[in-house]
Amino acid sequence: MKKVLIATVKPFAPAAISQMKNLLEQAGYEMLLLEKYEQPEMLLEAVKDADALIVRSDQITKTILDQAPNLKIVVRAGAGYDNIDLDAATKNEVVVMNTPGQNANAVAELVLGMMVLMARNQYNGKPGTELKGKTLGIHAYGNVGKNVARIAKGFDMNVVAYDPYVSSEIVERDNIKDYENIEDMYRNAQYISLHIPATPQTIKSINYDLLKKMPENAVLINTARKEIIDEDGLIQLMTERPDFKYISDIQPDKKEIFESQFGNRIFFTPKKMGAQTAEANINAGVAAVKQIVNFFENNDTTYKLN
Ligand code: 3PG
Repeated sequence: MKKVLIATVKPFAPAAISQMKNLLEQAGYEMLLLEKYEQPEMLLEAVKDADALIVRSDQITKTILDQAPNLKIVVRAGAGYDNIDLDAATKNEVVVMNTPGQNANAVAELVLGMMVLMARNQYNGKPGTELKGKTLGIHAYGNVGKNVARIAKGFDMNVVAYDPYVSSEIVERDNIKDYENIEDMYRNAQYISLHIPATPQTIKSINYDLLKKMPENAVLINTARKEIIDEDGLIQLMTERPDFKYISDIQPDKKEIFESQFGNRIFFTPKKMGAQTAEANINAGVAAVKQIVNFFENNDTTYKLN
């Protein structure tokens, strides 16, 4: 009987776990559950017998992969897979997949929710501003970016986008202005929402020079990865520009400096919350299980990343 280990520091909603368990049982597989583990050693122990592994932002290192002789597949129930050592997985002949799009609406709703929070001065009683009529620049028009655009249009925002990997036809089909030049978009958007992955090319790419192009009362929203921000550059800019605000679903490394210097011009969720809805957990968790069953039963490698 194949063993599928679900190892998540940040647990799935109970409804997701019960649907995942049912699907695994129907396929004749056994579900192993390791939630809220505090030490990576606990994962090292749990992964020993696993044929398949489902994770979220959990770090899957070479050490962990080397401890799992039966492991054939790791599915990251979510979009970003910078937490998985793809080279080590490839060397160990372990297939890695993600579940793109499954948690996109949840992240997008959080983006708009946090934008309202900031526009209303974090509900401190003072008059705020409205989103209607303001320009929102979407940096990367993938699954999350598209959902952010869809919801922002409901707020009557002027939505624009920049994504060198997505053709203008696709962006413009959604009635969104597509910028070919990143600086032009930053210059013209009061709000910028980031949806780029953390890669060697993007790490620290959201820097002082780019952000300083943003117009007055700029708001930067980051529900992507903390690594893409040049934190020193952002701190310098926010020191020079008292109008500049930063919202993030990922706590920065220099959180104490942001908190001590910028008061209510910043907002950070206490834990990454973008994908943390019952619906997103069900979508991503069920997709992960289906992909694993399809991989073993039908050799289906859709969404393979390595
Ligand atoms: C993702 O990459 O899918 C999101 O960042 C969600 O991550 P999480 O599963 O750790 O909440």
